[in-house]
Amino acid sequence: MSFQGRAVQNRPAGSAVRARQHLFNDRTLDAYRDALAAGVDRVGDRIARADRPFSGIAPHRLAPEIVDIDLDRPLEDPAAALDELEDVYLRDAVYFHHPRYLAHLNCPVVIPALLAEAVLTAVNSSLDTWDQSAGGTLIERRLIDWTAGRIGFGVDADGVFTSGGSQSNLQALLLAREEALTGADRTALLPRLRVIASEAGHFSVQKSAKLLGLGPDAVITVPTGADRRMDIAALARELDRCRVENLPVLAVVATAGTTDFGTIDPLPAVADLCEQHGAWLHVDAAYGCGLLVSPTRRHLLDGIERARSVTVDYHKSFFQPVSSSALVVRDSAVLRHATHHADYLNPARAVEQRIPNQVDKSLQTTRRFDALKLWLTLRIMGADAVGSLFDEVVDRAAAAHDLLAADRRFEVVTRSQLSTVVFRYRPDGEPDGEHLDRANLHAREALAASGEAVVAGTRVDGRHHLKFTLLNPETTLDDIAHVLDLLAGHAAGHLAGATD
Ligand SMILES: Cc1ncc(COP(=O)(O)O)c(C=O)c1O
Repeated sequence: MSFQGRAVQNRPAGSAVRARQHLFNDRTLDAYRDALAAGVDRVGDRIARADRPFSGIAPHRLAPEIVDIDLDRPLEDPAAALDELEDVYLRDAVYFHHPRYLAHLNCPVVIPALLAEAVLTAVNSSLDTWDQSAGGTLIERRLIDWTAGRIGFGVDADGVFTSGGSQSNLQALLLAREEALTGADRTALLPRLRVIASEAGHFSVQKSAKLLGLGPDAVITVPTGADRRMDIAALARELDRCRVENLPVLAVVATAGTTDFGTIDPLPAVADLCEQHGAWLHVDAAYGCGLLVSPTRRHLLDGIERARSVTVDYHKSFFQPVSSSALVVRDSAVLRHATHHADYLNPARAVEQRIPNQVDKSLQTTRRFDALKLWLTLRIMGADAVGSLFDEVVDRAAAAHDLLAADRRFEVVTRSQLSTVVFRYRPDGEPDGEHLDRANLHAREALAASGEAVVAGTRVDGRHHLKFTLLNPETTLDDIAHVLDLLAGHAAGHLAGATD
């Protein structure tokens, strides 16, 4: 090919030139700044106007708007795309910052973490190897060490950021399974392995067992007491039974912050039993990890330092945007079960050269630098500030519990140690029954359809209940009282046969 020919081939055609204008680099910084500022303005406008957490739109009304968009016809113009986004997303999104969003474990987020999001997506580090992240690797390591210190682990601890509590739990159980299988006949032992959790534990334990190739009966759920914490006598019985029946317990999962009840299993007693039986203790502190920075309630996690692995979800109780989670282990050596060397990525010689990487500890390869959000949060606000936000919502939940306990329209289940409140519309004197189940279900749905507030629902002892998960310090007791009035109105209307 002639020199001239090559030059022609290297010159981008018109459409390629236009495409290159969208690449982020030193020549497109104005477009980058303009686009981000426009995006920030749109979100700001929405937040300023949001007088309720949800529009209440039904899926069948929103779906056509999204289906009708021709993805093969780009709008070219960011402003036009943002206009469109108003209709397909921003207008009807569920807004967790709103004080009457009271449903699931979604927190409002802190601005330092949003700043970090903007930085980390633009630089786009991938936290698998040093040559894709450099300082990012060290920052993540530092945060894992910091978290391990807060847990009370020693210098041998280590861990890795993950996509969320489910992945952290999965990895913990993977490590525990591999420890249990070390030196054993894998095929013979795998179907016999058991995991014990309480009936109030998170469903990711069951999912993990399936993913890990354990048998269908692998997860044993022990009952909780009236306080919805793991019944220790029942755990002891199950551990004994497993020993007698030669069913090795690969892990006991204690929950520090159950999803429904915000209760914390009796960690010291669970740890005692695990030590007696030589069982791996995993503490799922996905929700309760906020106590690690609480200025007043850290003692509720006493015993967590005796775990072999701990799940922490910063995106639940550290006010971090999704995703931000970590698995932290007491003994770094167990992370070898997640290691596989590949010549193209993390050759064994990199270990000899002491080049740090995180991929050797992770289930993921390419991985977001989510740790930066926690880093800037700690560097700008500090841990006490985060902990005091969490303390506030725990206080608010206690006040909401008292409000409900004194309200003759409702009955409330157990007192949370964190920030949930599980309750049921059941006016004084009203006999229990399925009609009340339907009224509670209706109240929740009608409230969400009105968009005035969003609350969660769950079943307790076979009956439909309603649930507040309070994670927003901006939610006042007046907000809660108002939502209770709305719920009672919808439920009473349903009971009376009204079409509200
Ligand atoms: C106790 C507990 N563990 C684990 C999880 C799973 O976390 P994620 O949704 O981040 O996967 C949750 C989620 O609510 C949870 O409440």
